[in-house]
Amino acid sequence: MNVTNSPGVCPVTGKSAELLTKISLVDPDISAHPNAYYDAMREADPVHYDEKLHMYLVSRFEDIQTIQRDPITYSVKHGYEAQYSAGFFEEFKDILERDGGGYFPDAIMSDPPYHTRIRGLMDKAFTAHRVRELEPLITDIVVDVIGGLPASGPVDIVKAFSVPITIRVICAQLGVAQYNADKIQRWSAAVTAQIGRMQDRDKMIENAREICELQHFLIEHVKDRQEHPREDMISDLVHARIDGADEPTLTFKEVVSLVRALMIAGNDTTATAMTNLFYLLGTRPELAGLLGRSAGDDRAMSRFVEELLRVEPPVRGLSRMTTKEVELGGKILPAGAHLLLMYASANDQPEVFPCPRDFDMERSNLGRHVSFGGGPHKCIGLSLARMEIRVAAREVAKRLANIKLEVSAEEIPYLKSVATHTIEHLPVSYTKL
Ligand code: HEM
Repeated sequence: MNVTNSPGVCPVTGKSAELLTKISLVDPDISAHPNAYYDAMREADPVHYDEKLHMYLVSRFEDIQTIQRDPITYSVKHGYEAQYSAGFFEEFKDILERDGGGYFPDAIMSDPPYHTRIRGLMDKAFTAHRVRELEPLITDIVVDVIGGLPASGPVDIVKAFSVPITIRVICAQLGVAQYNADKIQRWSAAVTAQIGRMQDRDKMIENAREICELQHFLIEHVKDRQEHPREDMISDLVHARIDGADEPTLTFKEVVSLVRALMIAGNDTTATAMTNLFYLLGTRPELAGLLGRSAGDDRAMSRFVEELLRVEPPVRGLSRMTTKEVELGGKILPAGAHLLLMYASANDQPEVFPCPRDFDMERSNLGRHVSFGGGPHKCIGLSLARMEIRVAAREVAKRLANIKLEVSAEEIPYLKSVATHTIEHLPVSYTKL
């Protein structure tokens, strides 16, 4: 089933390399409506140096695959460090060390062989088995959240639907029973802003304070699970063990950083995917029929979700840094080149996904999208995310009709970030069934 449309406006109208030098991914209009910019880059300059961002934007599917296959030449660790709190890193780190219980570098944002050890221990805590058991719990949460919505709206679907669902699910997984959802949302925004490249110094200080609070919250939980293990993911990380390995368990610092990663990485991203569902239903009303017909069929729902993730990927680009001189996409890059892998652009490449702006859940290569990355860093939470989105979409189809946006596509506010493409607020009206 195939739905053609292309909502949203992009200010890019040509495809020349010269035009690309005049604009940047950080320009608010481009950042909000980037698809024509991606097209122009793929065609005119697929490994394009963005002068404002000081990064190479890698926009073609095949170049992104090359990078994913070689995590040593294209380092996550160096790319992430250069990205992290860019411009203010020392001050940011001082604040965390002084007021946040310590500075806990992101253990998972690392390179092999260290990453292989961390990922192995994390995988032990994050098994598909545990995710499969979650469907009834997720369904209860989604049904409860929809039940709490007013009769017809308008509501901000981000605040009333997407964020509460994802926060409740991840807290249940981690074993965090007492929490303030508003705080968790603020903490998530503060952590993700560190790779967004669009925060000024005042915002960095405000975000650092939020992260201090988050870390104290997590440290308390980790210490508790050291003494009193339970059936939850924090306990699984604290007690994860690979017998026979040189370093068979995680250190305290590593556990805190991984719990922080799990709490945050899956929050904004999964919530954004749910918001994008409403965005698509609101801007392509033909999709409502398609969703309704798919709702009773798990296979069809899974295909719907994959196409949703391809067409509107929550993560648009994540960074790497070259560790040696290398040729990529016909360009020679020096050692230390900072790259942004434009996953959203790869998903939009017509040679890989014909008529890429069409919503076509019968594509033969549906699962090839790179919305979850690829290679050794492929998203660890993808089974959980897919299930959350599938259950949310299914219950929306069963319980809400006449979904309409209360703003035009041009008025939708997007988070200032080069890493994610996140709708901040989405006023929506609907009829409850
Ligand atoms: C729709 C939702 C999600 C999207 C679009 C998404 C996207 C991604 C992407 C693109 C990467 C690759 C990073 C890279 O290339 O450097 C990634 C990695 C990761 N994701 Fe997700 N993610 C989602 C949900 C989740 C959830 C629910 C969790 C956990 C609860 C999670 C945890 C992680 C972690 C820890 C990594 C790092 C893995 C590694 O480097 O080995 N994500 N995610």
